[in-house]
Amino acid sequence: VLAVVTDHVFGDLETERGLLAEAGATLTEDRARLAEADALLVCYAPIGAEVIETLGRCRVISRYGIGVDNVDVAAATRRGIVVTNVPDYCMDEVSDHALALLLAAARGICRLNERVRAGEWDLAPARPLHRLRGRTLGVVGFGRIGREVAGKAAAFGFRILAYDPYVPVSPPAEAAPLDRLLAESDFVTLHLPLSDATRGIVGAEQLARMKPGAVVINTSRGGLVDERALHAAISSGHLGGAALDVLEREGADTPLRQLPNVILTPHAAFYSEEAQAELQRKAALNAVAVLQGRRPPYVVNPEVYGQA
Ligand SMILES: NC(=O)c1ccc[n+]([C@@H]2O[C@H](COP(=O)([O-])OP(=O)(O)OC[C@H]3O[C@@H](n4cnc5c(N)ncnc54)[C@H](O)[C@@H]3O)[C@@H](O)[C@H]2O)c1
Repeated sequence: VLAVVTDHVFGDLETERGLLAEAGATLTEDRARLAEADALLVCYAPIGAEVIETLGRCRVISRYGIGVDNVDVAAATRRGIVVTNVPDYCMDEVSDHALALLLAAARGICRLNERVRAGEWDLAPARPLHRLRGRTLGVVGFGRIGREVAGKAAAFGFRILAYDPYVPVSPPAEAAPLDRLLAESDFVTLHLPLSDATRGIVGAEQLARMKPGAVVINTSRGGLVDERALHAAISSGHLGGAALDVLEREGADTPLRQLPNVILTPHAAFYSEEAQAELQRKAALNAVAVLQGRRPPYVVNPEVYGQA
């Protein structure tokens, strides 16, 4: 029994290796062996229909993470392959990271830090800063992470608006249609999955509707935001800036890097030693369950069990 790890961002794979061994499976990072894989563990590698077609005997694609936008779930379902994710491992980390980005932008932390390190002791580079209490935070997507962000942001005295067409919005957030949220928020933070329905949900039109000086925070997926339009909206002075943990093309250069009021982190929001350990263990256990003929804890395509 063979499990192939297509890609990962961890120090080592000893947790997975140990858990899979208990199920009689050997782990390899050799992508040339995809055709003989019984299980795949996938981090960011795109697993499109063409890759899925090459899988000879795969029974499970276990995503290391929450979003499954890099996996063609429909194609996997057609082949009877179970797709799993880990929806509950980093709510604390991502919500903290979103707020860290928000606070860094709102308090000029990155610009001030750069100037002090360059030998300049002056708060002028951060001017103008504004008091956060009473300002409006817009939370787009009110799922596990969006709700955490709203709860934590309430302690800073924000008025909180949230937009989510699929779940009820609850205090401290108040429900608002997307257009009103965009028009009234000083900070807009994104917490929704990337899908055909949400790609580019923050495009040129939406950015134009935003309040002058507002800041976009994205810890979800780069594809949610039209980056060229974002760059234009910041360069023109309409928006106050952006703080982004995710980009459309991660690892590649982006013109956003040249803008002083853009803060960038390298898809690090999920990460803490604790979250990473939980992610590796839960992703491996998802694969182990399928290999042992059990239903795993987190199934993305339950309809796969309906088709005999
Ligand atoms: N940067 C990172 O390291 C990192 C880590 C974990 C998750 N993420 C991303 O964060 C996203 C959110 O995670 P979560 O745990 O809160 O997911 P979740 O599934 O609990 O919540 C997502 C919410 O988005 C809502 N939604 C769907 N379509 C929408 C739309 N068109 N408009 C508004 N809301 C919509 C859903 O109803 C749901 O409530 C994930 O999909 C993932 O892509 C990033």
